[in-house]
Amino acid sequence: MLWLALLVAQAGAPADEVARGEKIFAASCAVGYCHGAGGSAGRAPRIQGRSFTPEYLLKVTRDGIPGTAMPAWRGQLSEEELRAVVAYMLSISAHPAALPSGETRQEAAARPMPARVKTGRELFFDAVRGTRCGTCHALENWGVAVGPNLAAVRVRSIEELRRPPARSVKTARLASSEEFPALLVEQKDGWVRVYDLTVAPPVLRTVAANELGWREPARWDHAAFVRSYTDAELQAVLDYLRWLEPR
Ligand code: HEC
Repeated sequence: MLWLALLVAQAGAPADEVARGEKIFAASCAVGYCHGAGGSAGRAPRIQGRSFTPEYLLKVTRDGIPGTAMPAWRGQLSEEELRAVVAYMLSISAHPAALPSGETRQEAAARPMPARVKTGRELFFDAVRGTRCGTCHALENWGVAVGPNLAAVRVRSIEELRRPPARSVKTARLASSEEFPALLVEQKDGWVRVYDLTVAPPVLRTVAANELGWREPARWDHAAFVRSYTDAELQAVLDYLRWLEPR
């Protein structure tokens, strides 16, 4: 338990341990019946932005939660891997040790919000707009977490907001030859749940695993869904995303 004490004392785990944990989390915890990309919640609970102690996370990850779908990872992950996953979960949870600067989420939230940033936030969740960023991205407990958690990525330009790197969207092909751009949500008992990104808001579909194939690259255009935003508006959204970044 020495490392736990160290983790708490140092207010943060070494960056390479967090990075290793992120990889394990992405492979074992984010997919399937699980916690969502970047811990943003699939069907299992959300991890991101929540408060946990390292002791609790280690226990639950190692031993599982009896009577629930949360499996015990002891035996499947080495002790070192378990620690890395815990370090990663702490880095995205609301534990006071979460932010590299030592700043807590509460402190970050209490920072005064400049007018431009406020405008960006309103644009992100713009209720009047047909399709808004919040249709597919959740931040600050608002919006819908279909796409990636934007608090966990660093965006440098509005061009990246229009055309982000294609990482997770792929082309799903059904036995009927129907094809659509899709995001994998969950795979279980011969069934696969995917978001169909043909339209916004994206539609959650359940298909038989043996009737589904994946093709790369995805024929999907993020820019088409953010078309209603002008460059000036996207600049404000960018300011908002930057403001959310821990400093
Ligand atoms: C119709 C759903 C949808 C809407 C609306 C949408 N996005 Fe996305 N966004 C996605 C998906 C899905 C991805 C992941 C693409 C991939 O990995 O292939 C993504 C990716 C991104 C990324 C890249 C994240 C990374 O991992 O690097 C950024 C940044 C982003 N979106 C910002 C925005 C902003 C800002 C808006 C509003 C102006 C917006 N998105 C509107 C679905 C959407």
